[in-house]
Amino acid sequence: MIKSDTGFGLVDVLPLSLKDRFGAPPFSVLDARQGYWQARKKKWLSLGIESEVGRKERLINYHENVAKYKGGYHEKDGTLKKTFGVSVFDPVLCELVYHWFNYPDGRIIDPFAGGSVRGIVASILGMNYTGVELRKEQVEANYSQWNRISDKKFAVEMPSPNWVCGDSIFIKDLIGGEYDLIFSCPPYGDLEIYSHDPRDISSLNFEDFLDSYFKIIKTTCSMLKNNRFACFVVSDFRNKDTGFYRKFPYYTVGAFEEAGLQLYNEGILVTVVGSVAVMVSRYFKNRKFGRTHQVFLVFYKGDPKDIQENFPEVK
Ligand SMILES: C[S@@+](CC[C@H](N)C(=O)[O-])C[C@H]1O[C@@H](n2cnc3c(N)ncnc32)[C@H](O)[C@@H]1O
Repeated sequence: MIKSDTGFGLVDVLPLSLKDRFGAPPFSVLDARQGYWQARKKKWLSLGIESEVGRKERLINYHENVAKYKGGYHEKDGTLKKTFGVSVFDPVLCELVYHWFNYPDGRIIDPFAGGSVRGIVASILGMNYTGVELRKEQVEANYSQWNRISDKKFAVEMPSPNWVCGDSIFIKDLIGGEYDLIFSCPPYGDLEIYSHDPRDISSLNFEDFLDSYFKIIKTTCSMLKNNRFACFVVSDFRNKDTGFYRKFPYYTVGAFEEAGLQLYNEGILVTVVGSVAVMVSRYFKNRKFGRTHQVFLVFYKGDPKDIQENFPEVK
């Protein structure tokens, strides 16, 4: 309840909105297009988070994708238009996941660390984050960003994110330990190919991709304590030969269930339209929708009846 000095007495105690209570209404549709969400995202990014750094130049199929759709470059200097940039993980969603699904002072594990967002947001919230990332240059880029931020007053007392370079198939040997929250965003098959490294699951054919993906999820879940959550943000991608969707979100559910967890929440993250508005007129010639959402899956390891006992009111 917020107290206001309106002096009217009766209306003094106004119920807090869901957004103010939880950071965003905890509905199955999380709308990142909302003004407050975009404003908060800007605030996070203004702290110096540049999660795309360490990736753009190296996306194998990047230029092929952009070149395919005219208008991706500035005529005047040939540089890339912002809206055609690589996908950057949403820091506001990060913040919500850590407040909503992390155990108090819980340790976070991320088998597909990618850019710096999930690590830096965790650290600024005072949480312990460990991410495994295959590409050395990405890990270096993440640390140089944290080093630029870490002496700022909002970060100086905070634990440093821990990024470990390696293949998450061996995540247990690489980092060991037990964790309180799994939070990650895997490669969406070969939609964005991050490297030619044969261990990079984005460079694999679909069958081998799934095989490694299931193994990585199984091992990571074996390091999650009981009565804890696992959250994955995924998006579906098409079979480049047939055009049909691969049903990646469903495979992700299958992978976690095989690892002993169960689907607890299924959400949709509505994303800004951005470059899709430019490309959709071409897509829709083949009656393909322009994708402006991601799937937010929440799994639970244990008996949901114990959730209230383990997870205090969200503040
Ligand atoms: C960047 S994130 C995914 C981002 C997400 N698909 C998106 O579009 O927002 C995926 C990361 O997983 C990493 N990766 C791929 N295979 C891996 C493996 N076997 N072990 C650890 N990291 C891996 C890639 O290098 C990449 O940085």
